[in-house]
Amino acid sequence: MEELQTLVLTTLDRDNVIEDTKNLKSTQGNALDQLAVLGVLNSLKSKDMLDYTPLTYEYWRLTGEGEQLAKEGSHEARVFAAIPAGEEGLAIKQLQSILGATAKIGQGNAFKKKWIAKKGDNLVRCVDTIEDQTQKDLQQIQSTGQLQDTKTLNDLKKRKLVEKQKTTSYKVTKGPEFALEVKKEATDITYEMLQSGEWKTASFKKYNFDAVGVPPAGGHLHPLMKVRQEFREIFFEMGFEEMATNCFAESSFWNFDALFQPQQHPARDAHDTFFLKDPATTDRFPRDLMERIKVTHENGGDTGSTGYNYVWKEEDAGKMLLRTHTTAVSSNMLYKLAEKTKELGEFRPAKYFSIDRVFRNETVDATHLAEFHQIEGVIADKNLTLGDLIGFMDVFFKKMGMEKIRFKPTYNPYTEPSMEIFSYHKGLKKWVEIGNSGMFRPEMLLPLGLPPDVRVIAWGLGLERPTMIKYGISNIRDLLGHKVKIDMIKEYPICRLDKKMGKELAGINDDEE
Ligand code: PHE
Repeated sequence: MEELQTLVLTTLDRDNVIEDTKNLKSTQGNALDQLAVLGVLNSLKSKDMLDYTPLTYEYWRLTGEGEQLAKEGSHEARVFAAIPAGEEGLAIKQLQSILGATAKIGQGNAFKKKWIAKKGDNLVRCVDTIEDQTQKDLQQIQSTGQLQDTKTLNDLKKRKLVEKQKTTSYKVTKGPEFALEVKKEATDITYEMLQSGEWKTASFKKYNFDAVGVPPAGGHLHPLMKVRQEFREIFFEMGFEEMATNCFAESSFWNFDALFQPQQHPARDAHDTFFLKDPATTDRFPRDLMERIKVTHENGGDTGSTGYNYVWKEEDAGKMLLRTHTTAVSSNMLYKLAEKTKELGEFRPAKYFSIDRVFRNETVDATHLAEFHQIEGVIADKNLTLGDLIGFMDVFFKKMGMEKIRFKPTYNPYTEPSMEIFSYHKGLKKWVEIGNSGMFRPEMLLPLGLPPDVRVIAWGLGLERPTMIKYGISNIRDLLGHKVKIDMIKEYPICRLDKKMGKELAGINDDEE
């Protein structure tokens, strides 16, 4: 390095310019590694001691076979040479035993050039002398790196005898701070420099703002958590309050019963839900609420409904499970809202959201895991209508860049009416499902204790699909679970839900149905 630096500086000092660093030679007379040269040039350029421009140079080089032919002659010339002059010629078999593989390739070419002909089982010469142009061309390329005739050059390339090479070298000129000696540059101003006054004359090393920083050794947010933060911002912007979701293990009571989901509903099957073994049951839910829910399921209680007409069992409600949806959190939260309403003596409208993990006993494949994240929003206010839900959905999804939203009636035990949300996917040219929504039923809200004129609208969507689209991940197992590469988590950039992404996002459920 030191030696190279001196070479560059003394050459510049002597000649004022280095036309091409390719022509510089080391003290041993060898060509220089241009990458090492570049290192020295960059270091001196940062001190304004010189400037440089890159020169790219293309040349041709012989392949291994090309080199052999340059030395021994082309296959066809070697065939010609092997055949003696005269009528007799040489038996084809014999030629093969003399030249091996060369005989085969060489014969064809020699025939084409009309150098030799077949006579019975023998080969004879047709001309007295030949000129081995191929060998000459190869030799020229070997010594100069070039050949005028491009047709021949392409031909040699096709025959894999030559290959193109590229090198970069540099033209170097003096800079304003040119000197033979490299001044020692200070990297930082020190206490001593301030004391002695040396800082006034010292030369400081320039900061390199393009240098790649050392990656922080600290923690990294998982991509899902980065996208979650973006959704959070949307909710906060719209005045929502985040619900506490730190309860993966939940009772069937809050996950199903409080949501007017009958106890014989297929979703409560162990095939769809993970039930806990230890503790397998709980009785920790409000007794009075439990009584109201029981009668509502059985005969509608005083909700005006007929209920489901079955005998509701406390032990089914007590079964512990991993929550299958974040609506378990919402039901709990709405109960708390009802309690607060009673305490205050007046109802205050509320907007809640949650984004957290849920669990389903599903077959795992490239787009489904047994656990995933739901984004859920809930609005409680007097006299809300379906129009409010539709209008609100429009605003919410527009903030993610989804302009065209449509709804399709569907069924949820806890909402009526219920609507699947569809977004138009421009790329796929079709409507794709992106979420589910509805107005919570009176059979759910009245037992919770909310005033009869309070309506609650709610909707839910998945977090994984938008994240996979945002980060270009096609297999959900690369995003979540034991196969995830820790490096991936470190390397993915921060997330911004821009309009462009929103449009892609419109396809989040495109492989469903
Ligand atoms: N809980 C529903 C689901 O898991 C989503 C939903 C939430 C539907 C709120 C309606 C209202 O798909």
